[in-house]
Amino acid sequence: MQEKINKYIKDIDSLDISSIEDTKIFHTKYLSKKGLLNQLFNEFKNLSVDQKREQGPLLNKLKKIIIDKSQELTNNHNDNSRQKSNKIDVTLPSSSEQLGALHPLSQVTRKIISIFERVGFITSDGPEIEDDWHNFSALNMPKNHPARDMQDTFFISIDPDMLLRTHTSSVQIRYMNQTKPPVRIISPGRVYRKEDISARANCFFHQIEGLYIDKDVNFADLKKMITYFLKSLFGDNVKTRFRPSFFPFTEPSAEVDIYWGLNSESDYRITKGTGWLEIMGCGMIDPNVLENVNINSKIYSGFAFGLGIERIAMLLYQIDDLRLFFENDIRFLKQF
Ligand code: PHE
Repeated sequence: MQEKINKYIKDIDSLDISSIEDTKIFHTKYLSKKGLLNQLFNEFKNLSVDQKREQGPLLNKLKKIIIDKSQELTNNHNDNSRQKSNKIDVTLPSSSEQLGALHPLSQVTRKIISIFERVGFITSDGPEIEDDWHNFSALNMPKNHPARDMQDTFFISIDPDMLLRTHTSSVQIRYMNQTKPPVRIISPGRVYRKEDISARANCFFHQIEGLYIDKDVNFADLKKMITYFLKSLFGDNVKTRFRPSFFPFTEPSAEVDIYWGLNSESDYRITKGTGWLEIMGCGMIDPNVLENVNINSKIYSGFAFGLGIERIAMLLYQIDDLRLFFENDIRFLKQF
């Protein structure tokens, strides 16, 4: 059998086929039901185990040579026939187009927006280049207020009053200036902070902040809304806790943690060994802020909250380096 196979390999190697007829003969001779290849495989079945072990690879080699040759011949003919006629063969499969997809940050943003839309929030937008009033002063951070240091700011050198917004709370001020309560908005967008670039931080990132103002709004309403949001995003079983915190524009203020668990090494790393993960800031809007935009704080009250979109995307998709979101490496983006 070995000799036979070797002979076929040699035969095929020296074949010179150009016509369609010869190609057909080749197919019939080697690849048809009663062709040589099938015959050899039938013989192979009857060999002893040792012989099989010895001859198997050779037989497979021949099979590959025959199939490759057949492919080559078919391709040649396709090329030739295409050259001969100018007609387009509409039955040929089209080359597949690569479809684009939404960036993971856009996907998460849309998801969050849709959760809040379900309970009556609308989306509001604002400029990324902001003035001092909208980004700081109106939010209860007058000039020289130490709380400004919480967010290292890029100022625009030609105009000391202008800066790259450090949070989308500035959009809330713009909205309240124009629209009287009741207010239910969320403002997604890019924000900038002077931070060293690392796996955990970048000099720009994305936020979604929310604002809810009406008569008789209290902390219980805030808690209910945040809990609804976190359950919608992370599932009904998510465990949350509210920790007292400080933001200049809210009083009282809180940070919200979710219980992430301590099941793997990476859980330990991202939760710093506590199992809890800080997810967002929130609080009751400081009356000073309402007065700054001419909303009567004796009649109206409200709450605000803000969260980083990258952080949520990192959790949802188990990504441990923030920089991946901004490199636009197709191999990374393709996975979403
Ligand atoms: N603006 C805050 C920040 O960027 C987040 C926040 C918004 C906190 C609303 C409380 C209320 O860090």
